[in-house]
Amino acid sequence: MRPSNWPRAAPVLLRWREDPGQRGEPNRPPALATLLSTFVESEATELSPKPHSVIAMYPGSFDPITNGHLDLIRRGARLFDKLVVSVLRNHDKTPLFSLDERIEMLREVVQDYPNVEVDSFTGLLVDHAAACLATVVLRGIRAISDYDYELQMAHMNHRLQPGIETVFLMSHEENSFISSRLVKEVFGLGGNISGLVPPSVEARLHRRLSERQIVEVG
Ligand code: PNS
Repeated sequence: MRPSNWPRAAPVLLRWREDPGQRGEPNRPPALATLLSTFVESEATELSPKPHSVIAMYPGSFDPITNGHLDLIRRGARLFDKLVVSVLRNHDKTPLFSLDERIEMLREVVQDYPNVEVDSFTGLLVDHAAACLATVVLRGIRAISDYDYELQMAHMNHRLQPGIETVFLMSHEENSFISSRLVKEVFGLGGNISGLVPPSVEARLHRRLSERQIVEVG
């Protein structure tokens, strides 16, 4: 069965078939992400009904995952049909945990949520979201200080991909001061971080500390 917005994706395919290619370049098929984003985009530019199944993407660095992140995942998993937790690769910052470690830690703590998946991305978030057919980007706001940055990102992402909405959840009060950066700083200086990160993450932090002294806080 064809998706309901197939007519709007078809011109992309037809353009490819009809365009003989510029200056002798091979006429390659459109990238899968381009085709998929056509579907996502067409969902929101017209007043079409809500998709049957809403996929949300929760992006971040997760270096490491905190109880604040975990709370957002738990609430996102209840709100959306599927939640993809996506870890940014190639971030400017030097992470404490490698990409594989961050993914592993996330998978460990989301195993009780059958509709939550963990993956990673590079490049533009909205391109990855569109390729996963996500129509929602989920972000948390802890305090007013988060708001400016999040608002800018939401507007930019909307400009890049109007079919994707950013949905904000307010962090619960007890998590509103937790950040990965502060957890690493407090832990590195010998402070107690229990209750701020899942126990499995705390154990990894202890292992990491015994491997090397955390001298630099990312
Ligand atoms: O947990 P973080 O570090 O606050 O997450 C930031 C993240 C990963 C959401 C943001 O840096 C991002 O989306 N990066 C991907 C590159 C991109 O799409 N940039 C344009 C954003 S408007």
